Amino acid sequence: MKIRVPASTANIGPGFDTVGIALNLYNYFELKESEENATLADKAFNYFYKYIGKEKPKKSVSIIKSDIPQSRGLGSSANLIIGGLVCANVFEKNILSDEELLNLACKVEGHPDNVAPALLGGMVISTMKNESCFYNRFELSEDIKFIALIPDYELSTKKAREVLPKEISRNEAVENISNTAMLISSLIQNKYEGLEMFLKDNIHQPYRKKLIKDYDLIMSLIEENNFYGGYISGAGPTIMAIASNESPMTDNFLVVLNRMNLKKLKMNVDNEGYKIL
Ligand code: HSE
Repeated sequence: MKIRVPASTANIGPGFDTVGIALNLYNYFELKESEENATLADKAFNYFYKYIGKEKPKKSVSIIKSDIPQSRGLGSSANLIIGGLVCANVFEKNILSDEELLNLACKVEGHPDNVAPALLGGMVISTMKNESCFYNRFELSEDIKFIALIPDYELSTKKAREVLPKEISRNEAVENISNTAMLISSLIQNKYEGLEMFLKDNIHQPYRKKLIKDYDLIMSLIEENNFYGGYISGAGPTIMAIASNESPMTDNFLVVLNRMNLKKLKMNVDNEGYKIL
């Protein structure tokens, strides 16, 4: 039994802690005979057995192939949590539903916006209410591409959350609400023009950008290339550009990316979520 779990990009600008999209970049897992307990996938595996009230088998979760860079804003921790939970669930003949797995994953991760798309695929709008995760899931077109510009350094979510203000003004809050509503409805309806305006955020990006080297330069390159827009993927430091299939990448764009040591990964949405191979 092998399990494949997708990466994810969260927030998508204004949808802080609420919107996430699964991407076709994967980690692969299987169970092995061992009592090691080293990773977050093992922690989730153990948590599953605690939840179902059964003794854990003498197994641990092995990450057999890892394509998702860690602590870069591409949902690597959510991916490990889903990997561990799904390995346990498949081993226990699918005793838990996806809804139950999602609730467990949210408890381990603390917020739903990466674990939900990693589990279910597509774009997932999610929220925690009374310890339960509520969500709506949408499939997105492969006509839009997600171009991740990944720096060579890590940024922990904890550190990136510490810089956020506790309060914002009413005008800023209203702008975030309308931008999130426009962003989600535009993506569902394949209406990409104007996306750049709806990616504007007042809750986290203005504060996190100082943690990202060359943020302004990277965002201006995205603008120059006529992509649909750019945003900080999850807590960063990866910046994500949304582009059409035909969006050209100018020589200048590629040269500057190289000079800044940014790795470029062009991805599609993954509409499947985890998969048993
Ligand atoms: N919504 C989370 C954040 C995603 O922005 O902090 C990162 O885990």
